[in-house]
Amino acid sequence: MSAPSESTLPATMKALLVRSPGSPLALATLPVPLPTPGSCIVKILAVQADAQTPLIVSGLPGYSFPPNFIPGAHAIGRVVASGPDATVLQPGKLVMLEGFIRARDDPDDVQILWGITAGLTPESLGFMEGNWAKGCMAEYVRAPMENCYVLDEGRLCGELGYTYEDLLQLPMQLVAMGGLRAIGVKPGERVIVAPATGAFSGAAVQVAVALGAEVVAVGRNREGLEKVAGAFPKGRVKAVAVTGDVEKDTVGMKQWGKVDAYIDLSPPAASESTHLRSCFAALRKYGRACMMTIIGKDVALPYPLLTWNSLTVKGQFMYEREDARLLIKMAETGVLRLGKEAGIEVVGRFKFEQADEAFAVATKNPEMGKLVAFVP
Ligand SMILES: NC(=O)c1ccc[n+]([C@@H]2O[C@H](COP(=O)([O-])OP(=O)(O)OC[C@H]3O[C@@H](n4cnc5c(N)ncnc54)[C@H](OP(=O)(O)O)[C@@H]3O)[C@@H](O)[C@H]2O)c1
Repeated sequence: MSAPSESTLPATMKALLVRSPGSPLALATLPVPLPTPGSCIVKILAVQADAQTPLIVSGLPGYSFPPNFIPGAHAIGRVVASGPDATVLQPGKLVMLEGFIRARDDPDDVQILWGITAGLTPESLGFMEGNWAKGCMAEYVRAPMENCYVLDEGRLCGELGYTYEDLLQLPMQLVAMGGLRAIGVKPGERVIVAPATGAFSGAAVQVAVALGAEVVAVGRNREGLEKVAGAFPKGRVKAVAVTGDVEKDTVGMKQWGKVDAYIDLSPPAASESTHLRSCFAALRKYGRACMMTIIGKDVALPYPLLTWNSLTVKGQFMYEREDARLLIKMAETGVLRLGKEAGIEVVGRFKFEQADEAFAVATKNPEMGKLVAFVP
C-alpha cells in the first residue's frame, strides 16, 4: 500500500457541510486540513451515513453544533499525514475513527460527540467550535490521535475478508463494549440485552456473545429477535418477546436460569415500556444493570427490587480507550465477528453527491447490522 505524505495531499476536498445550525446539509469544496501536534490527517475510505444526521442538522432537541459543521463520526480511513508527535499513526496505516472526544486538559467535564453534538455546556460547544467542528463526512479529516485506532489491515481485510464498510460496525459495537465492561460481564454469564433489534442494541448482542456470555435478547418483535438470535451458534442467544404482562415476561426472561446482568439500550420512546421492570425483576440477587439510553427526562426504577436484591445500577455514556483496544483485538482474533456471517449487511454505498439518497436508505434500514456508507 503506497503511503501518501503531506506534500502530496490535494489542496481541496469534497465534504458535507452545514453553514449554520438549521441550514441544509450541502456538498461543499473546502481546503484539505493539515496536521497539528496531537492530530493526524485521515483519508476517509468509508463513513457511516447515519439516519439521525439529517434530523440533527435540522435542529433535533438536545443536539448542538457550531457554524461550518461537518457531521459524521464513525469512519474507517487511512492516515495520510500526521503531527510531529505521532508514533504509530504514520501514513499508510488503516484506522478506525470514533467520535468520543474529551478535552485533553479536562477530560471529565468537557466531552463532545464529534460530528454529532457538542453536548450541553458552553465549554463543550466552544471546544468543538475551536477544534473539532469538522467531522468525517469529508474526503479528508483532521482527527485527534486519541480517536484513531490502528487496525491490522492484513488480518481484517486480508485473512478475514472484511470490506472497509464491514468495519464500520466496530464503532457501533464499541458503545456496547463500554456498557458491558462497565458492569463487568464475564464469560459464561447470562446477560439480558434489551431491546436487541436496534443498531446499538443489536451490536450489544454481538459483543456480549463475543465476550463469552449467553444472551437473553428482549424486545417486542419476535420475528426480529429470532433473526438476531439466528446469527449465532444455537443456544447462545435466546429470544424473549415481551407481552406487557410484567410477571409473565419476567418468568420468560428467567426460563433458562439465573440472569447475572442486564444492559438497556432503549430508545427514548421506550421509556414507559414494561420491559424495564421485567428485566430488573429477572436479575438474580447481586445482579448488575447498565443503563445507556440518552434521554431528556427521568424514568422510574423499581426501587424495592434494587434494595432487596442488592442490585448494582450503572449509568454509562460511551466507553474508555481500553474498551476500544480490546474490541479491536477481539475482531482481529476473530472472536468478534463482522460482515455477512455476523448478520451485518452493507445496504448502500454512496458518494457525498448522493447524500439525500444515502440518508433515505439509512432511514429505511434502522435494524441491527444494516450499514449505509459514504465511500468518497
Ligand atoms: N450511552 C451511550 O453512550 C449511547 C450511545 C449511543 C446510543 N445510545 C442509546 O441507544 C439507544 C438505542 O439505539 P438503537 O439505534 O439501538 O435504537 P433504535 O434503533 O432507535 O431502537 C431499538 C429498538 O427499540 C425498540 N423500540 C422502539 N420503540 C419502542 C417502544 N416505544 N417501546 C419499546 N421498545 C421500543 C425496537 O425493538 P423491538 O421492536 O424489537 O421491540 C427497536 O428495534 C439510543 O436511542 C440512545 O439513547 C446510548
